[in-house]
Amino acid sequence: MSDSKNVLHNLPRRKLNEPFVGRNKISSVVLDLLLNNPRAFLIAISGVAGVGKTSLALHIAHKLLDATDASFEVIVWASSKTELVDKRRNVEEIDEAFITKDLEDLLDVIAKTLDINCHGYSVPDKEDKIKSFLQGNKILLIIDNLESLEQDAAAEILRFARSIPFDNKCLVTSRIEIQGEGEHLIRLFALSFEECVELINAEQGKEKIFERLNLDRGLMLEIYHGTGGIPLAIKWIMAKIRATRRKDLTGLIPEILDSLYTAENVLAYCFQQLFRSLSERAKEVLMAMSLLNNPIEIEAIQTICEIETSRLFDALRELKTRSLIEETTNNQVTILPLTKSYASWHLNHRSSLREKLESNYVKIYDTKEYKH
Ligand SMILES: Nc1ncnc2c1ncn2[C@@H]1O[C@H](COP(=O)(O)OP(=O)(O)OP(=O)(O)O)[C@@H](O)[C@H]1O
Ligand SMILES: [Mg+2]
Repeated sequence: MSDSKNVLHNLPRRKLNEPFVGRNKISSVVLDLLLNNPRAFLIAISGVAGVGKTSLALHIAHKLLDATDASFEVIVWASSKTELVDKRRNVEEIDEAFITKDLEDLLDVIAKTLDINCHGYSVPDKEDKIKSFLQGNKILLIIDNLESLEQDAAAEILRFARSIPFDNKCLVTSRIEIQGEGEHLIRLFALSFEECVELINAEQGKEKIFERLNLDRGLMLEIYHGTGGIPLAIKWIMAKIRATRRKDLTGLIPEILDSLYTAENVLAYCFQQLFRSLSERAKEVLMAMSLLNNPIEIEAIQTICEIETSRLFDALRELKTRSLIEETTNNQVTILPLTKSYASWHLNHRSSLREKLESNYVKIYDTKEYKH
């Protein structure tokens, strides 16, 4: 627990060697909801793994902390995830102080930050005591990576978040969109090319060796397209580039990007849990999409999967709420390169499904221009 300009908080420290880039517009939208919209008491940032939800939430929290007029008296940070992917060591543990696996953990994190003694209390009593404290204090509660929770635990936490006294706010990040009442959904998408350049430059600035690199705009574009603009993937690529100790990168980027697509630890970290939570039909639709190039015609997916329209739209909705696909127009959807690569990996392990999808794919390819 620390005290900064009279704001009590338990926020993780900002890492000075990991500067936050871009996201200006979406940061202002979230700040505006937090500060100027009394009806927005539950704000949920959703997006695919590694897109920067946690970073954005932390950036916003620190902005509030830095503001001269203390808009919140207390900021509480709780994380439902236990591990992070790290570029060098692969996995990094989350500080135990933030770990929230159920409502009781969350209440304990809040009590600890506020220095309220709830020792020996039952969960309902803790909830009552904390709520009565919240009544007189303006608190921002941030729950990071809500999708990591068991369904019942997430539901209990959301019930609590929806019932906190007026004037308090809850900001949630989740790979899966939250469905329910009263929340403001903010979808976080990939970085723009300019933001990607900023991130690459920030990564280059980390080590002297990069000063001699010839990472020109063309190579940066290759990285941007290959990573789909996902910051986690961009940082992973930059770490790989660093490991080559090479000055001239011409011709090397495709090879490094390929290594990202086959990096099982990164793919599993990003997609395993989400993929498992999908219905069989949605999995099949995602695997069918891995055979096609963006933007993908919905009609092409339907032909490949031999699926009824209403079921196809249910499957697409499931994929969209997990940010595994994005909708461009009514008739087209897109899939990010890493997602595509994970879906393709699964398809390669299901030979009979692969045969069926590929033979249907060949049929439409013969008649129409759905290029591979
Ligand atoms: N705007 C940004 N500027 C600089 N680095 C960023 C930015 N967004 C994300 N990153 C970096 O990308 C990596 C992944 O970001 P982050 O953990 O915030 O993603 P996430 O969406 O919360 O992922 P997950 O779904 O796994 O929780 C981190 O190393 C983070 O520092
Ligand atoms: Mg996160």
